[in-house]
Amino acid sequence: MLRLKGKVAFVTAAGGAIAGSTARLFGKEGAAVACVDINRESVSKTAADIVAAGGQAIPIVCDVTDESAVKAAIDKTVKTFLKLNVVLNAAAFADPLLPLHQLDLNLWQKTFDVNITGMFIVTKFSIPHMLHAGGGSFINISSIYGARAARNRPAYCSSKGAVRMLSKSVAVDYAKNNIRANSILPGPVETPRLLVANKNMEDVVERHKPHLPAARLGHPEEIAKTAVFLGSDESSFMSGNDCFVDGAYNAI
Ligand SMILES: NC(=O)c1ccc[n+]([C@@H]2O[C@H](COP(=O)([O-])OP(=O)(O)OC[C@H]3O[C@@H](n4cnc5c(N)ncnc54)[C@H](O)[C@@H]3O)[C@@H](O)[C@H]2O)c1
Repeated sequence: MLRLKGKVAFVTAAGGAIAGSTARLFGKEGAAVACVDINRESVSKTAADIVAAGGQAIPIVCDVTDESAVKAAIDKTVKTFLKLNVVLNAAAFADPLLPLHQLDLNLWQKTFDVNITGMFIVTKFSIPHMLHAGGGSFINISSIYGARAARNRPAYCSSKGAVRMLSKSVAVDYAKNNIRANSILPGPVETPRLLVANKNMEDVVERHKPHLPAARLGHPEEIAKTAVFLGSDESSFMSGNDCFVDGAYNAI
């Protein structure tokens, strides 16, 4: 039994590692997937992979901070697949590691624009379609750093904390409409993003060792599997949660 059969999903950052893996798994589980990213090449590849595997997908090039582009992307999704049931909000800006007093206002604002304002815009234009469909599920990618601070990442950590509260607000306001919203808080996941601040993946594990009881990085597929559960009816009474997928990082 396919767990997302008959559902339509809108996935931001679908050209990236975690959301790309999730979009592909959504497709395998029977969802029709609108794959959304600013990167035309990578988002086209994700959509093509889903179609090649026998699923349904369209690529959409869209910046989540551009309100009219997001509205057009959601309209295109509904025009193509006739409804909208699941939204994975994963777009994020990889800000440089800097202590707060050296952080330019424009970098702070860019981090908030992409990581949280973009999520607000996508959510705003998705809700009317979910109301029309009789319900829906938002899966918002926060981070372990939305619950505990990382050194020299004040904007990222603050924005990822805001993701959790946006999810909870949506969960509370639309619970009676059968619209759910949950955050996923991944620990460090083996993705190219981690190499921005580290030489190689061994370095990442070494740096995180005191907080990493699992003694390994997560894999994008492990986040994707959690997202499938949250997008499916299996999680029908689950909303407003912080779902840590972190190898016990948060527990230590
Ligand atoms: N990789 C990790 O270890 C890790 C850990 C915790 C949380 N996360 C979160 O998971 C999510 C995905 O991370 P990833 O490692 O797969 O990143 P990634 O860099 O592989 O992918 C990010 C994607 O977002 C797209 N993007 C950036 N700005 C955009 C915008 N304005 N509009 C639309 N698309 C945009 C990029 O083009 C890219 O394809 C992010 O929210 C990140 O904060 C990642």
